[in-house]
Amino acid sequence: MNLGLAGKTVVVTGAGQGQGSVEARLLVEQGCRVIAVDLDVQAPAELRGLEGPGELTYRKLDVTQQADWEQLAGQLAGETVHGLVNNAGITQRDRLAEVSIQQLHRVYEVNVAGALLGIQALRPLFARGSSIVNIGSVAGLSAHYPVAYTASKWALRGLGKVACMELGPAGIRVNSVHPGFIETPMTSGANPRFREATIAQTPLGRAGRSEEVANVVLFLLSERSSFVNGAEIPVDGGQTAHGGAQAISDALK
Ligand SMILES: NC(=O)c1ccc[n+]([C@@H]2O[C@H](COP(=O)([O-])OP(=O)(O)OC[C@H]3O[C@@H](n4cnc5c(N)ncnc54)[C@H](O)[C@@H]3O)[C@@H](O)[C@H]2O)c1
Repeated sequence: MNLGLAGKTVVVTGAGQGQGSVEARLLVEQGCRVIAVDLDVQAPAELRGLEGPGELTYRKLDVTQQADWEQLAGQLAGETVHGLVNNAGITQRDRLAEVSIQQLHRVYEVNVAGALLGIQALRPLFARGSSIVNIGSVAGLSAHYPVAYTASKWALRGLGKVACMELGPAGIRVNSVHPGFIETPMTSGANPRFREATIAQTPLGRAGRSEEVANVVLFLLSERSSFVNGAEIPVDGGQTAHGGAQAISDALK
């Protein structure tokens, strides 16, 4: 489907693997000029040799480093940035009783401050029609066992709401996508029981694919979503829709 994104500049953070790399690839397929950023100096295998019609530039950018963002903004000065996908994120799976304040700070630094710094640095380059997509999580829609991660994703929602309110008058939209269990390197390291238990709570009965998240991100970056602003879209197979009622429904079958 042609989403009208050809020629647009879009920055995707955490694009070195997982969902970010798929978002970057699908944007190149839409003809975008993608600036894919991640921690490594070298472009990852996933992003090498992509065929157009768009083009991809990979660069090292740590989202927690204001200087990295300023450098990127300086290099793009005079251009319009159409889109920013705040996808970079880390997890932290310690439980309430064990997590340290240092771990909490670190998760906030990447998952919350990283997104704020990106929005601040690129704000002068956005124009009417630009679109920001924050990648939250189902952990930001309910309770979830990793406490620092959960708190950070709720905080990211708050940041998105404020950005939506402040940037809307300039014609810049800000939306959130909340993935459920998606097969990526992040989840491949999780306890297999986490996967099983999550799928048991997911009405579609399976894990999601990065493409299924990326397609929603592309929609939100495009004019097809021109009046969608401040929205929170779960891409979770229905995991958060039942609010825990699935176990009751199953028990009564
Ligand atoms: N996989 C899931 O099931 C799932 C579910 C809900 C939400 N999410 C969210 O989706 C996003 C992508 O997750 P994923 O599963 O693809 O994870 P992933 O770990 O596979 O990829 C995340 C990428 O972010 C990069 N990154 C981490 N810290 C960074 C920093 N400081 N600066 C720049 N890049 C940094 C990593 O290097 C990595 O390439 C994250 O925000 C994550 O919290 C994932």
